Amino acid sequence: MRVLGIESSCDETAAAVVSGEQVLASLVATQHDVHERFGGVVPELASRRHMENVVPLVAAALTDAELTLDDIDGVAATYAPGLVGSLLVGLMAAKAIAYTRGIPFIGVNHLDGHLNAASLEFGPIPHPHVGLVVSGGHTSLYAVTGRFDVKLLGATRDDAAGEAFDKVAKLLGLGYPGGPAIDRMAQRGDPKAMRFTRPKFSQEGSLDFSFSGIKTACLLKHREESKNGEVSGGFVADMAASFQEAVASFLVERVVEGARKIGAKGAVLAGGVAANRRLRSLFESRCTEEGLTPYIPPMELCTDNAAMIAHVGRLKLEAGERSPLTLNAVANMEIGI
Ligand code: KG4
Ligand code: ZN
Repeated sequence: MRVLGIESSCDETAAAVVSGEQVLASLVATQHDVHERFGGVVPELASRRHMENVVPLVAAALTDAELTLDDIDGVAATYAPGLVGSLLVGLMAAKAIAYTRGIPFIGVNHLDGHLNAASLEFGPIPHPHVGLVVSGGHTSLYAVTGRFDVKLLGATRDDAAGEAFDKVAKLLGLGYPGGPAIDRMAQRGDPKAMRFTRPKFSQEGSLDFSFSGIKTACLLKHREESKNGEVSGGFVADMAASFQEAVASFLVERVVEGARKIGAKGAVLAGGVAANRRLRSLFESRCTEEGLTPYIPPMELCTDNAAMIAHVGRLKLEAGERSPLTLNAVANMEIGI
């Protein structure tokens, strides 16, 4: 089955075509130039840019795949979670194509997309496994016991990991998006220069996350250092490296704890923060140490893309699932709860 996928939940417009397990085309138009000067995504501007991009991007993806709409058997689009104005653009485009072509339409949860991105690279991943989705909006750990049998094991109680990366990068004057900037700056710093305590929860064995404490600790250290004038490049690099180390090790320890709890055979890493080089190497080494197979997709499948949406859409369409054309966009929607 050939499926066209559209993703527009935040600040990337993306279109992709899959045929079975194969990705024939996957294009992403980033909007970093639009939001950079605001230090974060401006929802109204994001929607407007999606409007400009979505039709040319779908056309370009079809051209890349050397196909036309006549060759497409179904259309998938992200319908939740995300910025509603942004989601609606991709969703309406997908519905319009499905309606006018008389082909099936399926709405896909963005988190299902991230969680299944690894299987585009590695094929079906043996169950049970744990999946960690770390992005700008989510930090969630799942037990995956079947293709779409997912149970939430833990989630962030405050900021998402990517949000913390973006905020600390802003504090350090590293620009937007902050994750890649911290990743680069951390190469020059000492990860042991600053110590951050790991958050503790009253509930024994909780697999939840929290990043507001470490973000505040960075703010206080930075404020203290700024008392003597502008902070040095060395301080910025050390804070980037130490912050990154603390977040990466906290995330990976939770994955190990979750995997032990459910007797997982493997662990999947997903979401934009999964592009982080330190997180990738620590995830790989700790999982291997624990006897877990690590599944770390290539960078382009970690950050927002439409291949993962087309992929999940295809699996659902092939299983006979369809969404009505009345399906609406939804801002907040966890999976596995
Ligand atoms: O999944 P994604 O592309 O969009 C959302 O669904 O949120 O994730 C975006 C997040 C941003 O917070 C960005 O700063 C972070 O992923 N990110 C990174 C890296 N690349 C992107 N964080 C740390 N290191 C990176 N290399
Ligand atoms: Zn995402």
